[in-house]
Amino acid sequence: PEAITVQELANRMAEKGADLVKALFKLGMMVTVNQTIDQDTAELLVEEFGHNIQRVSASDIDIDTSADVDPEGSLKPRAPVVTIMGHVDHGKTSLLDALRGTDVVRGEAGGITQHIGAYQIKTKGGDLITFLDTPGHEAFTEMRARGAHVTDIVILVVAADDGIMPQTIEAINHTKAAGVPMIVAITKVDKHEANAQRIRERLLEHEVVVEAMSGEVQDVEVSAKTGAGLDELIEKILLQAEVMELQANPDRAAEATVIEAKLDKGKGPLASVLVTRGTLKVGDILVVGTHSGRVRAMLDDKGRQVKAAPPSLPVEVLGLGGVPMAGDTLTVVDSEARAREVAAYRQEKATAKRTAQAPASLENMFSALA
Ligand code: GTP
Ligand code: MG
Repeated sequence: PEAITVQELANRMAEKGADLVKALFKLGMMVTVNQTIDQDTAELLVEEFGHNIQRVSASDIDIDTSADVDPEGSLKPRAPVVTIMGHVDHGKTSLLDALRGTDVVRGEAGGITQHIGAYQIKTKGGDLITFLDTPGHEAFTEMRARGAHVTDIVILVVAADDGIMPQTIEAINHTKAAGVPMIVAITKVDKHEANAQRIRERLLEHEVVVEAMSGEVQDVEVSAKTGAGLDELIEKILLQAEVMELQANPDRAAEATVIEAKLDKGKGPLASVLVTRGTLKVGDILVVGTHSGRVRAMLDDKGRQVKAAPPSLPVEVLGLGGVPMAGDTLTVVDSEARAREVAAYRQEKATAKRTAQAPASLENMFSALA
């Protein structure tokens, strides 16, 4: 026999659980939102609420801030988000290490990047730039695609001693698909077998025409080993960013995109997020994917505590009720009840989607509501 909890039914009907409990009470049944009811009772309730079903839409429960545009005057300049892409071992992480004065590469298993690293640097001139490091190994196509979609600018790293390789081409395609401007960094130019000109020529075959070849795409020769070209690279990033006039409203409830997430044995669910608008603060109540939570602490890329994260700052967030998925949006809401309601609704929707094939009659009954 079919059974469903009152809350699940409420979610599917886009009604409040408490209203269903009230209606059940009128029908002479004392149940809480967490208790299950049988199919006949569920049908009765749907009939009871029938007049409401057309009127109440999922958007009353879920959050959709896409139509919620920040007024012109509220926008302030924000740091560009720059994603480093390229073939495996071409020197992406080394380039970032050189820019940041760190040594991430040495800590990587086999020197292979297996996740998206998110960092922010302050240039000598005081400008902030956010960098996302992506893996070059062929197994990580999805991460590269994701990187291309949250970014403002892509840096295509090509090793001067190697050439255009499969994941170089893949990165070019992701960048074009995302419609994001590209800067080509020809790296490892300190090596004696380096041939930067040959790279520029080969790029033509993939419709990447760099400035040195009379095209529009900025290119720069760099070496993570000697530091050559790093200042020039920064200049080109800032120049590109200036043209784009990147802005966001920092004075509103925050929204952020999950870069990656995991379950940490000690800290619980951890999400590395990039704030897209508003300022994320410790104590904020939030929904992220199908989970609710409250920001217990935030850490920057150096592991330091951050109290407030403005647009473009990548931070690691502690205090989530579960592990979200990369690409999920984090939204700050004004009450825990609201956060739980939205999360429950989304969980229910996700479950319904997973079991969509199952020929359960309750599913059929509510499919019209989806
Ligand atoms: P994946 O993340 O696995 O795709 O690799 P990656 O692109 O991040 O390359 P990584 O920075 O790990 O560098 C690969 C190798 O190239 C390492 O041995 C680096 O020391 C070396 N390397 C990187 N940049 C340079 C450079 O400018 N000059 C020289 N000589 N070697 C470099
Ligand atoms: Mg790497």
